Amino acid sequence: MKQIKAIYPGSFDPLTNGHLDLIERGSKIFHELVVAILRNSEKEPLFDVAERREMLIAATRRWPNVKIDTFSGLLVDYVVDQKANAVLRGIRAISDYEYELQMALMNRKLNASVETIFMMPAEAYSYLSSRLVKEVFRLGGSVRQLVPPEVEERLYNKFRAATSAAGDGRL
Ligand code: PNS
Repeated sequence: MKQIKAIYPGSFDPLTNGHLDLIERGSKIFHELVVAILRNSEKEPLFDVAERREMLIAATRRWPNVKIDTFSGLLVDYVVDQKANAVLRGIRAISDYEYELQMALMNRKLNASVETIFMMPAEAYSYLSSRLVKEVFRLGGSVRQLVPPEVEERLYNKFRAATSAAGDGRL
């Protein structure tokens, strides 16, 4: 059977246990899985790309066939540069489907040889997103079961830095 190298692209701002669940599932199916952080996002990130990369490296060390990289520009161009065969994306709920379908079909239009493969994270993570993790943390909620320990620690460090800079405890 053909050995498949897949790219799992995303913002990962920050990495959540839902992302990790998908990475673990992907690592079991693909010969090689490259988690690729988008560098040129228009969004204002909480963590810069170097920080997100460090957190991903620490959290995925246990899977030898998982690599961490960054990319900018078109995803399909990066997939070709990497000599990869597929893009991995997670679908948590029906609400993800429309956006994911749009992206997958746009990528197919741009390069018909790039296949998108969807996997579902564990049900326990179906409500989890980086955006909500940031919101819960900012408002003082616990994110202990939502993100890996290295991410939780970095969130605390950011919070502490913001507290001493702004004096109001907000990020
Ligand atoms: O974690 P996200 O923010 O849902 O990831 C979105 C991502 C990085 C997969 C998407 O924005 C992307 O692939 N961007 C690269 C630019 C691109 O190729 N755009 C055209 C295809 S939709």
